[in-house]
Amino acid sequence: MTAPPSSRLQDQVVIVTGAGSGIGRATALAFAHAGAHVLAVGRRAEALHQTAAQHPGIAVLPADITGDGTPQVVIDAAADRWGHLDVLVNNAGATAAMPLADTDAQRVTDLFALNVTAPTLLAQAALPHLRAGRGAIVNVSSTYGHRPLPGAAHYAASKAALEQLTRSWALELAADGIRVNALAPGPTESEALTAAGLPDAVVEQIKQDETARIPLSRRGTPEEVAAWIVHLADPAATWITGQVLTIDGGLELT
Ligand SMILES: NC(=O)c1ccc[n+]([C@@H]2O[C@H](COP(=O)([O-])OP(=O)(O)OC[C@H]3O[C@@H](n4cnc5c(N)ncnc54)[C@H](OP(=O)(O)O)[C@@H]3O)[C@@H](O)[C@H]2O)c1
Repeated sequence: MTAPPSSRLQDQVVIVTGAGSGIGRATALAFAHAGAHVLAVGRRAEALHQTAAQHPGIAVLPADITGDGTPQVVIDAAADRWGHLDVLVNNAGATAAMPLADTDAQRVTDLFALNVTAPTLLAQAALPHLRAGRGAIVNVSSTYGHRPLPGAAHYAASKAALEQLTRSWALELAADGIRVNALAPGPTESEALTAAGLPDAVVEQIKQDETARIPLSRRGTPEEVAAWIVHLADPAATWITGQVLTIDGGLELT
């Protein structure tokens, strides 16, 4: 008989980046509810503590994952605390409204440092532990990792890069028994639009426009996305690797 998710993830060690808000917070809580030990990572200590206050299985590590040497510090913190590491969820990320005419080299560099380079260095530092436990990586992409996004092309390009890393690493690491998948959410309630520096009125307009375009007529909730991140990481998902799973209320089909 197949074990229920809670027992398969019991005592597994999971790192979730960007766990102080939105999809990352919901993901940290979903893993903790399934019995995992979770290291919640992000820059704002207060936001992480608010996540951890909701479940005793969550520990926090305030850190900027784009910092020099920080990815290794993050991985070591989990491995030192619990003795192993089974799952890395590369969720922290940002969007940036940036039409071509306004493109700024530093903003492109910063966006790729967060959305592409940091997940890469975290995965690299996690590798010995994931090899030892035949673990899993889940990268959080976006519907716009495989659709065009006028006005935010570099966000779309950074997520496209993450999807190609997912496929390539899946092949590269298959012999080690490490599974690598990506989750591509559509528009989901979170702090992402505000964090991109957009005024409230613009955020509201974007949300209304997105809702109108989504076949299921609403934006997603972080919990709906988190549930699929947990499914992809679940040790029972033994036969899936290199896949990008889109969760977007049907937006991809339009
Ligand atoms: N919401 C959507 O509609 C949507 C759709 C598709 C994909 N996504 C993707 O889903 C992921 C989660 O986003 P979200 O929607 O939940 O937005 P969010 O609420 O803005 O979450 C992003 C998280 O990343 C953390 N973060 C940002 N820069 C960081 C850094 N340098 N070091 C460490 N942590 C950092 C933030 O925490 P601190 O500010 O405290 O560091 C924040 O908790 C992102 O990769 C995003 O691109 C979101």
